[in-house]
Amino acid sequence: MGKRTLIIGHRGAAGEAPENTLASFRTAVTQGADAVELDIHLSADGEIVVCHDPTVDRTTDGAGSIALLTVAELKGLDAGSWFDPRYASEKLPLLEEVLALVPAGIMINIEVKCRYSIRLEKRLRQLLATYRRQDGVVVSSFDHKALARLKQAAPSLRIGLLYAADFRRHSLIATSFGSEVYSLHPDHRWLGDEDIADAMRAGLRVYPYTVNGKAEWDALIAAEVSGIITDYPGRLRAVRDRA
Ligand code: G3P
Ligand code: CA
Repeated sequence: MGKRTLIIGHRGAAGEAPENTLASFRTAVTQGADAVELDIHLSADGEIVVCHDPTVDRTTDGAGSIALLTVAELKGLDAGSWFDPRYASEKLPLLEEVLALVPAGIMINIEVKCRYSIRLEKRLRQLLATYRRQDGVVVSSFDHKALARLKQAAPSLRIGLLYAADFRRHSLIATSFGSEVYSLHPDHRWLGDEDIADAMRAGLRVYPYTVNGKAEWDALIAAEVSGIITDYPGRLRAVRDRA
């Protein structure tokens, strides 16, 4: 058997609980995830909020841009009923609440969805320092320039490059960053075994997203990929531990 592939719960356990809520992160941890992935935005009053979309429209009973709403306004919203009425008490979490909830041994993949700003950078660094999470976190984004700025400001921060497509061409470029980059996060549909081997030879971890089928899990585990981002961490755990 090869090296252990990490199970990374996408937005917590998005297939089984309302994404990016504390219930979803609890579910992922309970189901045996090694890591959780989440998305962040900045509120109008400068707090880091966990949500995938730039607006609250899809995943709450409210409407509007997170960047234009205060924490007090965001906390008044129901972030669970859209998924199932039994989650009606779920709120949009702050990053701080997730850092407090997720046990230290579980890695957190923080995906920056909002634009880079000094305000975001300062608050992120402050939270990671307060919760002593620098080592157990990887900050990823499709915005590689934003990651470069974060890395410049906080050289010990682990950064992960997200790719929507055409992974091979870009990953070859990424390998030239060497130790500056911790991990590559490709869309799994663009990823081949050779790509995994090349990146891992260059010292990079490879965390493909978002992989929910057994055949794909089997293939990636056989290729000894570093980790798999999935909406179903419990199901993947059963598959990986049998492999
Ligand atoms: O971080 C991997 C994956 O979450 C990127 O896509 O749209 O689900 O944030 P998305
Ligand atoms: Ca994400």
